Amino acid sequence: TAELKKGLPLLNQKALVSAGPTYEAIDPVRFIGNHSSGKMGFAIADTLAKLGADVTLIAGPSAQQTHSKLIKRINVTSAAEMLDACTTHFNDATICVMSAAVADYTPVTVSNIKIKKQADSFSIELKKTTDILKTLGALKRPGQILVGFALETNNEESNAIEKLHKKNLDFIVLNSLNDAGAGFKTNTNKITIIDRNLQKTVFDLKTKDEVAADICHKITELINS
Ligand code: CTP
Ligand code: CA
Repeated sequence: TAELKKGLPLLNQKALVSAGPTYEAIDPVRFIGNHSSGKMGFAIADTLAKLGADVTLIAGPSAQQTHSKLIKRINVTSAAEMLDACTTHFNDATICVMSAAVADYTPVTVSNIKIKKQADSFSIELKKTTDILKTLGALKRPGQILVGFALETNNEESNAIEKLHKKNLDFIVLNSLNDAGAGFKTNTNKITIIDRNLQKTVFDLKTKDEVAADICHKITELINS
């Protein structure tokens, strides 16, 4: 494959990608999750591999499949497991794209037996999870490219810029849920890329494969600059 990959723009780059939701266990049969399909992250992993990168994909529970033998897939379930896998592989990565929809909160305690229904109301105490992207941002070395996403419904750009700075990213991909056809279950997304110089690029509604190509093009530009 070394011969086949010659001339590819991301040859010799090692990429780390997170994708999909996380599931936070409540008891042996229940969890707190979200509607992320993993499509966006898997498309990014496939595109980076096509461009010649060696890809490690940290995947939460997702029915998606990878399409390249150059992708090493590591399956995880919870936010804590995803943090573990991401911090383990970050050191080796030159490109890191965190597209997973990580749970922000997880149950304080997990029951080891199925919880029975009792009173009319019931609540579960939650605690904050560790922000994986922010953790990696603090570990980032010169030369490493770190990309995050922001899912916003209001004050979109200012919220995204705040995340860009707080998490020490090279650029952030703002995902608008407001636009019809964009979001979790669709095959399309409407994104805006904002980089450290606050240069903003607004893209049309596109398929997730096309969006992945736009994101990877920006990564390639940064590597060559
Ligand atoms: N992220 C992460 N670890 C978390 C939460 C989020 O790595 N525990 C990452 C996501 O993968 C994404 C980025 O942080 O790349 C932004 O996620 P988002 O949910 O939009 O932002 P939060 O910082 O979690 O803030 P909020 O949900 O309050 O908007
Ligand atoms: Ca969040």
